[in-house]
Amino acid sequence: MRIKLVDDRQRHCGEVECDLDAIMTQAEQLGGDIFARSISIMEEHIGFAISESSKVYVHKFLRQFMAMGESKAQLIIQIKNTEKKTRDKPVLVDITTTSFEEVVTFPNKQYQERFERLVGLDALKKQVQKEAAVLLAPELLQKWSKQHHGVELSALRAFRDRYPFMIFEGDVGTGKTEFAETFGASIADAINKKVTLARMSMKSRGNGVVGEMSKLITKAFQDARAISDSSKAPVILLLDEADSLAQSREESQMHHEDRAGVNALIQGIDHVRDASYPILVVFCTNRSQAIDPAIKRRAAVIHTFTRPNLEQRLHVFQKHFAELNLRPEQYMELAELSGEIEGRSYGFTYSDLITRIIPQAVFSAFPDSRLTFEIIKNVVLQLKPTPQFKEG
Ligand SMILES: Nc1ncnc2c1ncn2[C@@H]1O[C@H](COP(=O)(O)OP(=O)(O)O)[C@@H](O)[C@H]1O
Ligand SMILES: [Mg+2]
Repeated sequence: MRIKLVDDRQRHCGEVECDLDAIMTQAEQLGGDIFARSISIMEEHIGFAISESSKVYVHKFLRQFMAMGESKAQLIIQIKNTEKKTRDKPVLVDITTTSFEEVVTFPNKQYQERFERLVGLDALKKQVQKEAAVLLAPELLQKWSKQHHGVELSALRAFRDRYPFMIFEGDVGTGKTEFAETFGASIADAINKKVTLARMSMKSRGNGVVGEMSKLITKAFQDARAISDSSKAPVILLLDEADSLAQSREESQMHHEDRAGVNALIQGIDHVRDASYPILVVFCTNRSQAIDPAIKRRAAVIHTFTRPNLEQRLHVFQKHFAELNLRPEQYMELAELSGEIEGRSYGFTYSDLITRIIPQAVFSAFPDSRLTFEIIKNVVLQLKPTPQFKEG
């Protein structure tokens, strides 16, 4: 709808197109008071602060709009034109056309629980929590330095030039997506700030059409910035399954289209440091070996996710079948049988164990019999691990 803008003396100063539905949908996804948030998104969009008296009116207008789904009245907003918002060009985040499959605001209990359920990743959890905390709340590092040394250590300068960028690489089903989607919940807790996650899956996106991939990436960065501006809070921008993009630009067979995407990604990473609120970019890929060196060089963290080893598989079985009270050597046998056994050089992935073996074992017993070691063992022997991701 068209909104009329007037100044403090009710003089007409322009009109602007606003999609109220899109604004309210976005406000809803960002959480908090939907009306207050809609008003601040609106301010971002029109590029001016709204006067206090007008805010009350807009609040009422939005309530009505939400109840009726439309409004016949014209919306006239009084702006404080002395307080031009910093943005040069207003950008409206129309959530219906954003690049993201998922936008979540942390703290979020459900995501926190999912994060805690990830096993065998304790060292990574600690490292990423620290990294993300200093990237998303740099003042914490200064505080630490002052507290323990009385001054700001010169060593902190080494952090200034780092890119807020992490790479999670590794085989399929090893927990990259699950980790990347949920760690923000623990960060929000640690830095005591709201954090928004925006996830874009790049699999089967932008196929073929020239310029499509790079446009998508550029837009994802723009949208992430718009979200951080309007929520005034840090954003985690997750680019998931960007496998073709990870390939080195030097690879001769690399399609021109992918190369444009790599360049768009590099530009995006270079520019997020200028954002008013921190944006942490996380890049997940199955293609471990061929990540473009220019992309790799920028990463503050590169973590390789692997399939669970013997001990980690043991942990999974002990945890999920705890009440069965199997004998220790039985848990161990399950862990061994689900690993690298004769005829194959790789074991089951976390995803295989948790989304296939365990449910299937339960279904083998359900509804008529008890769940036993024999049943679980049979399932492990019958199923095959997901083949390893082949490079190229
Ligand atoms: N470390 C882990 N602990 C527990 N479950 C896991 C772990 N890693 C993966 N999973 C399970 O496997 C599923 C698939 O993992 P996902 O993150 O999609 O793998 P990837 O993105 O690496 O291919 C997840 O939904 C989760 O249930
Ligand atoms: Mg994944």
